Amino acid sequence: MNMDGKTVLITGSTDGVGRYVAAKLAVAGAKVLIHGRDASRARALEEEIKRERGRAPSFFQADLSSLAETATLAHAIRGECKRLDVLVSNAGIGSMNGGPTRQTSHDGHELRFAVNYLAGFALVHHLLPLLKAAAPSRIVNVASLGQHPIDFDDVMITRNYSGSRAYAQSKLAQIMFTIDLAEELKGSGVTVNALHPATYMNTTMVRAGGIAPISTVEEGGAAILRLVSGDDVAGKSGLFFNGLREARANPQAYDAAARQRLRALSLDLAGLPRP
Ligand SMILES: NC(=O)c1ccc[n+]([C@@H]2O[C@H](COP(=O)([O-])OP(=O)(O)OC[C@H]3O[C@@H](n4cnc5c(N)ncnc54)[C@H](OP(=O)(O)O)[C@@H]3O)[C@@H](O)[C@H]2O)c1
Repeated sequence: MNMDGKTVLITGSTDGVGRYVAAKLAVAGAKVLIHGRDASRARALEEEIKRERGRAPSFFQADLSSLAETATLAHAIRGECKRLDVLVSNAGIGSMNGGPTRQTSHDGHELRFAVNYLAGFALVHHLLPLLKAAAPSRIVNVASLGQHPIDFDDVMITRNYSGSRAYAQSKLAQIMFTIDLAEELKGSGVTVNALHPATYMNTTMVRAGGIAPISTVEEGGAAILRLVSGDDVAGKSGLFFNGLREARANPQAYDAAARQRLRALSLDLAGLPRP
């Protein structure tokens, strides 16, 4: 897909691999909607894109640990764009950002579930009309190989909490959502896929975990860009990729009843109507 003139939203594009992908797409001529929490980091990216003669991006500020701010973000995007060719749901917090103890979102939900999964779930639902208007269009969920099954009796992990379990649960939830949404969007021209970009890239979340990076942002960015614009994945939907290769996710992702349970819970938590 030629990205010149396409509109692409990348959540969490003020840092890490999202920032890399945003810059590449702007230089390729896409109208990039940058998202993050920090206006000064966004300005630095805007300057970099200008230096590289990329197309000027727009910046949208929102804290995805608040469902109200997530809805306001979608509202602002709907005000500026009539169509959205690609949504990359990339914003996330790692297992150790903010320390090892359990944290909660503005809405009182377990923080990784809220930011890494539920906000993206809500944002996609709010922006589906724009994605459908641009069909063929794509949703890319940046998940991970780190996956932990959801305990539906304790989704908010009030017992036996660990940051790595919370992170991995949120990442599997993204993949379950991907498979579920692909079913729902069959025939609409909107595809949705998930991926593990690369292992321990040199980014803020990896450094916050005290982990020595073993891959680069360029490597993970290439895997994301392939799902954004690759002709070889045009029309493919509901898949999980490990880097560039299609892969199997945790078995719970293929449990239709678990996906249905997650969807019903997520619609309720996000205040969205059940169909
Ligand atoms: N790094 C890896 O090796 C690796 C491996 C597998 C998967 N991933 C996935 O790749 C994605 C990007 O990670 P990264 O490594 O590039 O991380 P990163 O450098 O820490 O960047 C994370 C991005 O998410 C944003 N973000 C965090 N919390 C937010 C919140 N409450 N509201 C809004 N935005 C928020 C950050 O915004 P601010 O600039 O405002 O902080 C930043 O732009 C994540 O989904 C991650 O799970 C990464």
